[in-house]
Amino acid sequence: LSLQPEEIVEQFLNIRRRSEALCAGLAPEDYVVQPTADVSPPKWHLGHTSWFFEELLLVKYQNDYKRYDASFAAVLNSYYKSAGSHWLQSERGHLSRPTVAQIYEYRAHIDRHVAKLLSQNDLHADLVTILEIGLHHEQQHQELLLMDIKVILAANPCMPAYSKSALDCAKPPSIEWSDFDEGVAQVGHDSPAFSFDNERPRHKSYLTHFSVCNGLVSNGEYLEFVNDGGYQKSRHWLSMGWDWHNEHAVKYPLYWFYKDGQWFEFTLHGAAPLDLQAPLCHVSYFEANAYANWRGCRLPTEQELELFLIAETESKNAVGEEVLHPGNSNAPHGQLWCWTQSQYSPYPGYQPYDGMLEEYNGKFMCNQFVLRGGCFATPKGHYRHSYRNFFQPHQRWMFSGIRLARDLS
Ligand SMILES: [Fe+2]
Repeated sequence: LSLQPEEIVEQFLNIRRRSEALCAGLAPEDYVVQPTADVSPPKWHLGHTSWFFEELLLVKYQNDYKRYDASFAAVLNSYYKSAGSHWLQSERGHLSRPTVAQIYEYRAHIDRHVAKLLSQNDLHADLVTILEIGLHHEQQHQELLLMDIKVILAANPCMPAYSKSALDCAKPPSIEWSDFDEGVAQVGHDSPAFSFDNERPRHKSYLTHFSVCNGLVSNGEYLEFVNDGGYQKSRHWLSMGWDWHNEHAVKYPLYWFYKDGQWFEFTLHGAAPLDLQAPLCHVSYFEANAYANWRGCRLPTEQELELFLIAETESKNAVGEEVLHPGNSNAPHGQLWCWTQSQYSPYPGYQPYDGMLEEYNGKFMCNQFVLRGGCFATPKGHYRHSYRNFFQPHQRWMFSGIRLARDLS
């Protein structure tokens, strides 16, 4: 996403329409349930992203703006303490109001007012900055919508499909490895183009001689770990991971199931036999770490993965291919977010956003791990190689896979 002044209204509306298009196939009942504490009802995502524009753009920059419904903030504010008290994330599915119809009316209202605001001449630079953050925020929620819709549909024993055709394509695994020299590397974002605050500043990092596998771990390779009793051997596991998988009786990746002597996987296009060639998806950090140990490898650091992704893209471009989006089946990123062994923490010299947005990233920098590379569900124009996604080590409902690394002597 790169905002062009003459197309700014159209760019805004296109991204807003895509969120609604992602939900076009849902029934009203699909919009309101919350099967697990991490998942938000689709209705909430559509409302929350609208509240974000209302609170940060309309209230601040449109003269005499009155909130559409001041009571909505208590439901649609996610976690911004500076914007007032808000409902519990884990209980969003308890609320029948605002209704789905009200949320769509609210979205239309916000779209009309923001479009009017953006139609004015000489937009203030701060306003454009906030708009850009708001649009990337909306795109983050578009990926969350797909993650959450998948949980909602999979929780139903009827196993309804979200789409008729596969959204995630199977990229054949590669057994090639890329070696990197020891030395000082520059990592992080360093250009006038958009990035989130957590990707800056660009800084030096010392890396030892390492190698990264060009392909993601496949379902077939992970099944070898399962069949070898990987989940029953404590020596592969972190202590917290061992306790987690025992406590929750985790014996294979999320969405896998075994029936009539065969492995299946719930996908966005419904239940399907497990594709052994396809990249493994929906594992926790604990599982990724245990698998890497079992293979005699390790997970990459986020700095190693950033260098690898940049080098891969450069080598693809060198042979004439377009700059690749993670959704492209030729993408070097392999179509899934990859766990790194790096704790999500501030870069040296990190400066959070000002005001309410100070709460956007910095306050989550504790007990989470970074994932890199983007995935098929990441919206076009939203991804950069410096992008730092982050989740808690037990979470696995995002589109998370494994890329192995190893030390070279
Ligand atoms: Fe949000």
